[in-house]
Amino acid sequence: MAQDDNGGHELTTANSSAVEHARAGDPGTAVIVQDAVPNPGFPTHRPRITDINPVKQRRAERVVYTLFYLSIVGSIWAIAAYMMFPIESSDPGSVRLNTLFIGLGIALALLAIGIGAVHWGKALMYEQEGIDLRHPVRGSEVTIERAVEIFQEADQESGFSRRTVVRNSLIGALIAFPLPAIVLFRGLGPQNQNPVTLLSHTMWKAGTRLTRDPEGTPIKATDVTLGSAFHVIPEGLNETPDPLEEKAKAAVLLMRLNPADLNVSPARKTWNYNGIVAYSKICTHVGCPVALYEQQTHHLLCPCHQSQFDITHEAKVIFGPAKRPLPQLPITVDAEGYLVARSDFTEPVGPSFWERN
Ligand code: FES
Repeated sequence: MAQDDNGGHELTTANSSAVEHARAGDPGTAVIVQDAVPNPGFPTHRPRITDINPVKQRRAERVVYTLFYLSIVGSIWAIAAYMMFPIESSDPGSVRLNTLFIGLGIALALLAIGIGAVHWGKALMYEQEGIDLRHPVRGSEVTIERAVEIFQEADQESGFSRRTVVRNSLIGALIAFPLPAIVLFRGLGPQNQNPVTLLSHTMWKAGTRLTRDPEGTPIKATDVTLGSAFHVIPEGLNETPDPLEEKAKAAVLLMRLNPADLNVSPARKTWNYNGIVAYSKICTHVGCPVALYEQQTHHLLCPCHQSQFDITHEAKVIFGPAKRPLPQLPITVDAEGYLVARSDFTEPVGPSFWERN
């Protein structure tokens, strides 16, 4: 007899009875591995109260479908709460009420489905233990037939087909549960306007001054020295009703390069002013702010997924997952020497999927 180094299994060299047993399968010098702990088998079956008392069984059934109906109520309540407690941008307390009541509805919907399903399994489904031996992945015809039988047995035991009220209430609860998500996600988008049109334009227009972010002070062309970079917002942005939403589209980076370093296509000859160029700060990958400017290489780096844009070549992508250049804002100066936009961006800013519409 020997002790196994790894598992602590007791190994027994083939003794006479084992040899006798093994001869049929030619064991050679094999050792017989015995379980360290003998298999205790199944515990004695004890019927539940619902197995022997039909009244208790009906009561359990009522509890289960009541829970599923409660889940439906929770889902509907979450939708109603979304409409009854809207978020007002001027009232921070409305955010608390909105999330509190929507959260309560979703929690009730999810909890009631979970508790109902567990109670169904514990109180109503037949208790029956079975042993399934391991086998190759592809089952034989016999196995497949057995699988069908198991499904039929499971259907019989759970009463899925027979207990139609319970089953239908569960189906109803599962259908109702995702509905709040549809309403909530729709609420993230613009309500009364086409989102594509809305996101295709920013508040830049001809004559809008370029101002410092966040102060909003205008920038003269003479303020922008060679190699410098400015974070820019349109003049008047801070006075709009939704400055953050406007800024999310209109934020710009302004840089001054030696005009000789710029490779400008014929259509963009007038878009820079003595080497001062302005590009959208919203990354064309998934919209992070492209805020890192390498002055020596004239590369802009997006810190989210490391896309790099070459300012000397109209912000074309030279590295990373972004698929198109940063849109350029055409600029010039006004009569007082302040930098102004010539127009809005000529293409949508931000993630590239908008160009596919
Ligand atoms: S958002 Fe800029 S690289 Fe991903």
